[in-house]
Amino acid sequence: MSHPTRRRFLGTAAAATLPAWFLDECRAQPGPKSPTSKNDTPGIALVGCGGQGQGDLGSAARFGRVVALCDVDDGHLAAAAKRWPAAAHEHDFRKVMERKDVDVVICGTVDHWHTLVSLAAMRAGKDVYCEKPLTLTIDEGKRLVEAQSKTKRILQTGSQQRSDKNFRLACELVRNGRLGKIKEVDVWLPEGRREGPFKPAPVPNGFDWDLWQGPTPAVEYVPERTHVTFRYWWDYSGGTMTDWGAHHNDIALWGLGQTGPVKVSGKPTVEMIPGGFTAASKYAVEYTYADGVVHRCRSTPANNWFGGVVDPKGQQHGVKFTGADGWIFVTRGKIEASDPELLKKPLPASATRLYASNDHMGNFFECVRTRKPPICDAEVGYRSVSVCHLGVIAMRLGRELKWDPMGEQFVDDKEANKWLAREPRKPWSYDAV
Ligand SMILES: NC(=O)c1ccc[n+]([C@@H]2O[C@H](COP(=O)([O-])OP(=O)(O)OC[C@H]3O[C@@H](n4cnc5c(N)ncnc54)[C@H](O)[C@@H]3O)[C@@H](O)[C@H]2O)c1
Repeated sequence: MSHPTRRRFLGTAAAATLPAWFLDECRAQPGPKSPTSKNDTPGIALVGCGGQGQGDLGSAARFGRVVALCDVDDGHLAAAAKRWPAAAHEHDFRKVMERKDVDVVICGTVDHWHTLVSLAAMRAGKDVYCEKPLTLTIDEGKRLVEAQSKTKRILQTGSQQRSDKNFRLACELVRNGRLGKIKEVDVWLPEGRREGPFKPAPVPNGFDWDLWQGPTPAVEYVPERTHVTFRYWWDYSGGTMTDWGAHHNDIALWGLGQTGPVKVSGKPTVEMIPGGFTAASKYAVEYTYADGVVHRCRSTPANNWFGGVVDPKGQQHGVKFTGADGWIFVTRGKIEASDPELLKKPLPASATRLYASNDHMGNFFECVRTRKPPICDAEVGYRSVSVCHLGVIAMRLGRELKWDPMGEQFVDDKEANKWLAREPRKPWSYDAV
């Protein structure tokens, strides 16, 4: 038998479920309150009725009344209407914002619409649950944070791993020195799709291609650019780097208590097929924080793009914190450590505890009621997606970049700073929604 310390440093994983002390604590934490009267139930509108939007609405309907559905694809709208037949139908999200019966907007659109829809909602006095990745650019995040602070609306970002017990436990242990001084954090994200070339096709009846594209460059309709696979095009998203990075890089930042790195470098590790998906499907990015901690973020072939296991023996997507005294690996449904004792021992009463939420949508509606900040507010969503965007920019420029996390600019680097924003295609503008 190896000595425990040796075993710890050889990295033999000790698979673990959540420790009893932590589960007991979670049981004692009050959950979100269910509505008690009609006056207590906000009117909810869903903008973007695809798979995730409908999933979010199903969860939100526990806390309010579904009053409106909005999509630029009549087929998706009809599918949602089957589940919520009493709700009104809208084609243009600006009409949703004019409705007096809507208190809360759920934004389940494609990534390039998140900021404009959320800005419009907050300016119209609505609270917003916006899917991750919160923004398409770093500049958009600044606009959302500013608008949220000005309008005092509640904005929850859909990075729901913050409301997952495994991830909170990992971050609390890391923050309280259970692993000693943290040296590095490794993040593995599912590999993206590398397919193509794709052909233009006639725009399907009942689909508003121009409104779907909105602020992004106008191009011929290509089916693979739209539903679900939009995330593999730089025009609309950042590939799995932003899709999954908005979950796992968010946890890396939460555990480290960081808002941004001071250095980033990265590269795609495969060439994409001309005429096919553009966002890097395989990549390796490295961030360095001011305290010297290194954060590596790589794609892994062991998972498919939805996170399903392709190779059970390969490196699964997730986050691994490594410190002087051991490591913790955390992913959906699993937390393990170099030594089980690292998880088993309760945190002392004097420990720093993180925001506890065990129900992401419930936390949002609780905050709609109490006007307290939600667990994943605009600032959190902005900072987490910005780290992903920094990785994308480093990959696209192919060189090391210096970042000022306080000034939110690349240091003395005009070329890199150009990538912080994208000009919306006219007539769209951030001020006009
Ligand atoms: N939190 C999570 O775990 C999670 C999981 C999956 C997806 N997501 C996020 O949810 C979002 C949607 O993903 P999806 O897989 O459901 O995509 P999808 O393509 O199935 O759905 C997007 C919907 O938005 C609609 N849409 C586009 N522009 C619109 C506009 N201007 N107004 C109204 N509707 C518009 C589309 O027609 C489509 O119905 C993405 O941002 C994605 O990153 C989050």
